[in-house]
Amino acid sequence: MENFYALAFILSCLLNIYQGVLAIGINYGLQGDNLPLPSDAIATLQSRNVPKIRLFEPNEDVLTALKGTGISVIIGTRNEDLEPLAIDSSAASTWIQTNVIPYYTSVNIICIAAGNEVVPGDLAQYVPAAMQNLDSAMTAAKIAIPVSTAVSMQVLSVSSPPSQGVLSPDAAPIMNQITTFLASRRSPLLINVYPYYARAGDPANIPLDYALFEDTATGVPDGSLTYHNLFDAMVDAVYAALEKAGRGDVGVVVSETGWPTDGGIDASIENAKTYVNNLIEHVSSGEGTPRRPGKNVETYIFSLFKEDLKSEGIEQHWGLYYPNLTEVYHANL
Ligand SMILES: *[C@@H]1O[C@H](CO)[C@@H](O)[C@H](O)[C@H]1NC(C)=O
Repeated sequence: MENFYALAFILSCLLNIYQGVLAIGINYGLQGDNLPLPSDAIATLQSRNVPKIRLFEPNEDVLTALKGTGISVIIGTRNEDLEPLAIDSSAASTWIQTNVIPYYTSVNIICIAAGNEVVPGDLAQYVPAAMQNLDSAMTAAKIAIPVSTAVSMQVLSVSSPPSQGVLSPDAAPIMNQITTFLASRRSPLLINVYPYYARAGDPANIPLDYALFEDTATGVPDGSLTYHNLFDAMVDAVYAALEKAGRGDVGVVVSETGWPTDGGIDASIENAKTYVNNLIEHVSSGEGTPRRPGKNVETYIFSLFKEDLKSEGIEQHWGLYYPNLTEVYHANL
């Protein structure tokens, strides 16, 4: 059995190195009343050689459809579950029993994300203990899957220029607990990075080309570094903030990024196609960001489907696919 674990570990490391090249995954959201069967959605992902997906909450049908496919998955907990997971270690054990144990031998579960975009906020206080309890429940079950949480750029009070990135006073105390835990496990922080919202919120100062990776000018200087796209600038603002908090040793995974095709300023199929394909090329190049040159930025596109149960307007228009499995635009996956 010991040997089995050792072998499984070596294999999963090799797999991770291999997947480092194929750094692009997709968020599979389920807020639609017309979405295809998970088995059909997963078959489509397989046909496109998508190596990994992220789920916002555990879903039995999706996890079952993933069995034996080799597609890796980040599984989120629902935000509503953070409080029980934090205050009751048996709730965390039950969560692992229900959502991990039945699958982990045939589904490559690469991370459990305790909550999505709750820091800073009322639920933030529960994140560190929820992470700890999920981690302890897996240790007790002899399962080694990293536990993290996904945060938005709201954890920063300054993000431009990137070198000035700093945690906001509201977020800092909880982020320090979270990143101390992550550093002790060598696990990454998940960050949701939307150049779209930065551009849409400040079109006078943020050129569309810079947000779309189409900046052909000399770039934006920041000390000795030069930025050619807003994505790198936003990721590096997080790195700079972690460094200032004494946690430069924590890596990041971009758990969400994308561009809407409708419903807002600069939202169009053409811009979305430009953003996503330039993103794929940039991330796959392995060149990293100016602050972390050569370090792969594992990235998940938001999202797989247009989801009609989300709020009206922009929220419904991030999908690469219509619910009938026709592409909204072609991404060079
Ligand atoms: C899929 O749905 C889209 C949007 O409703 C539509 O434009 C397209 O024609 C449909 N494709 C098929 C094959 O039905």
